[in-house]
Amino acid sequence: MCGIVGYVGGQSALDVVIAGLQRLEYRGYDSAGVAVLADGGLAATKREGKLANLHKRLAEHPLPAGHTGIGHTRWATHGAPNDVNAHPHLDNAGRVAVVHNGIIENFTELRAELTDRGHELLSETDTEVVAHLLAESFSSCGELAEAMRQVCRRLDGAFTLVAVHADEPETVVGARRNSPLVVGLGDGEAFLASDVAAFIAYTREAIELGQDQVVELRRDGVTVTDFEGNTAEARPFHVDWDASAAEKGGYDYFMLKEIAEQPRAVADTLLGRIDTAGELTLDEVRIPDSVLREVDKVVIVACGTAFHAGMIAKYAIEHWTRIPCETELASEFRYRDPILDSRTLVIAVSQSGETMDTLMALRHAREQGARVLAICNTNGSTIPRESDAVLYTHAGPEVAVASTKAFLTQLVACYLVALYLGQVRGSKWGDEVIAVIRELSQIATQVEEVLATMEPVRELARGLADQDTVLFLGRHVGYPVALEGALKLKELAYMHAEGFAAGELKHGPIALVEDGMPVVVVVPPPRGRSVLHDKIVSNIQEIRARGARTIVIAERGDDTVTPYADHLVEIPPTPTLLQPLVATVPLQVFACELATARGNEVDQPRNLAKSVTVE
Ligand code: G6P
Repeated sequence: MCGIVGYVGGQSALDVVIAGLQRLEYRGYDSAGVAVLADGGLAATKREGKLANLHKRLAEHPLPAGHTGIGHTRWATHGAPNDVNAHPHLDNAGRVAVVHNGIIENFTELRAELTDRGHELLSETDTEVVAHLLAESFSSCGELAEAMRQVCRRLDGAFTLVAVHADEPETVVGARRNSPLVVGLGDGEAFLASDVAAFIAYTREAIELGQDQVVELRRDGVTVTDFEGNTAEARPFHVDWDASAAEKGGYDYFMLKEIAEQPRAVADTLLGRIDTAGELTLDEVRIPDSVLREVDKVVIVACGTAFHAGMIAKYAIEHWTRIPCETELASEFRYRDPILDSRTLVIAVSQSGETMDTLMALRHAREQGARVLAICNTNGSTIPRESDAVLYTHAGPEVAVASTKAFLTQLVACYLVALYLGQVRGSKWGDEVIAVIRELSQIATQVEEVLATMEPVRELARGLADQDTVLFLGRHVGYPVALEGALKLKELAYMHAEGFAAGELKHGPIALVEDGMPVVVVVPPPRGRSVLHDKIVSNIQEIRARGARTIVIAERGDDTVTPYADHLVEIPPTPTLLQPLVATVPLQVFACELATARGNEVDQPRNLAKSVTVE
């Protein structure tokens, strides 16, 4: 995890670095720190907690003005989130400063080695060893980029590093293995960051560093090499969203803005998917149709909210393609020795494209010969880069830690992949594909309708601020929706919330129900699978008989549930499989409002981070 920024150019390095950190705070906010090169030396400040604490410190004790600097916002892995463990870390002479994202697995040995040579390490972090090793290498080779290469060759684990040295006042050096690092190219200035959001206010021309590359930034350009010092290729790209997309746009929280953006995000993800021949197309499919036709098993791997999207995708894939499909938590996947071969298609779903659990699952799958298709929101991130095929969701930058618009667009992308597989394998005819796309293209308007009717949900949420527990029930695709509703509430309101398959309730969880306990029930459309609908109506009656206060999410006009709903939330009619796209929205609003009512931080909930780049 963690956000890192580096700058060299004509502007005040401190201003640029702090502005960048503000945009990267979603990656972690346990502590923040900066270092600038000025007056022939290096000055650094760091503070536990959010960036606001660092601001305060800098206001009281300003740093000297300089044009080269680095910064860090931390999500703690090694060592408590305090001032000492905050980055940047310096060598004993205070000439080198380094910031780091990831984990250095062999840091204990390196630390012992350094201590034996007389170095004094002050923190509990793995990062500090890098500052000391860099100082040693620099004193022998006299060049920061070369020192970085030498040090990287000694490190095990996942790390992205950015460093400066007082003896090279116009250079910033970065190294990338696993965690993301992008370069921004300005006019007479250059930037380094975990995410382009940190520098899009200054430039939209970027270079994405590859695995095991070192970059040297100067005012007049950048040089990229591998860890051995050979010139290396890094991918240039143009950032096609602007700084305003990363701002709150008048909303109190990014999450509210991102919830409101869902109709647009859903429509954008669908855009241009049908070619002139009426065929469905994906973004970058490097898997031949002949291979897709032979696929005999689909495995979806993902984490958190993306996992819930994957659970829903299973229903669509099996229904539309008749290929067996499993959805598995990425963190569990490779450790159970899954059965994979060249006829397995693995779908990795990830908003950030950097989640380490998902990345490791996909690497394992590829090692076993499986093909991997990524569904991702972040162009150029690691997961799509390492996959055989990609379908990008076009949600735009998602800043709030709790995922909303990314989830809806992941669902759309999953439906598209399912249809695509059906099309290639002949289990779905062109007109059937187009009929589903037509239904999907109405969803944006339907999400808008839901958003326009959310005031009663907000009012209900405010009234539940003192509750301890909320349960969520669903069946079929409503089950993952219930899980997602519960996850949102845990993440944001810090309440005990659990999602259950409604049919499973009677096998244990119903014992939890007590007088007045709020239970949210996602009711499938009454048409189509009416058995499903009838069964859940019975489940509502069962919990109500035991004192539950029922909050029922049901299709508009579904009168059969009205008598059993203490609170009814109506959603527009959709086909059963697509209902999660509208049914999830009230649950997002509900959790967001409850968090606000309980005085919690909506965009940056405690203990969490947006992009989890550690296993
Ligand atoms: C973190 C975030 C979740 C997210 C999950 C997977 O835990 O807090 O909101 O769903 O990671 O992230 P990804 O970027 O892979 O979708």
